[in-house]
Amino acid sequence: MHDFLNDYDRLIPIWILGRRAEVPANNTLLRCLQYLCPDTVPYGKFCWNNECGNSKFYYRRPGDTHDRKARACCFARITDEMEITVLSAELKFVLRSFLDSTPIERPLPTTENPSTPIPEIRFRDE
Ligand code: FES
Repeated sequence: MHDFLNDYDRLIPIWILGRRAEVPANNTLLRCLQYLCPDTVPYGKFCWNNECGNSKFYYRRPGDTHDRKARACCFARITDEMEITVLSAELKFVLRSFLDSTPIERPLPTTENPSTPIPEIRFRDE
């Protein structure tokens, strides 16, 4: 058990940019990403306190037709098969070892309603 994690009783299967991952329940997403990349996430430019915006991401739950926006440092409602569709530049940077070494198993979802496309996403440091 890593000392940076809250106690957890299981690993939750999720998708990150089309890649399969299993992350500990009962933790924020940023801590879960640290679980995947413990050597780089702690050195990212993160306030860990919902202030800097560097942990922004977009996600969908099964059945969603549009992305939802959140910040990984304060997002703890991780559910089975949740799909992370967009990562901030900083999250991508600190997750590069996971993203480079894990095969893409499925394409990112597209919106089912073409009249309301997913907005182009820009983060502060892009
Ligand atoms: S790490 Fe700064 S807003 Fe999430």
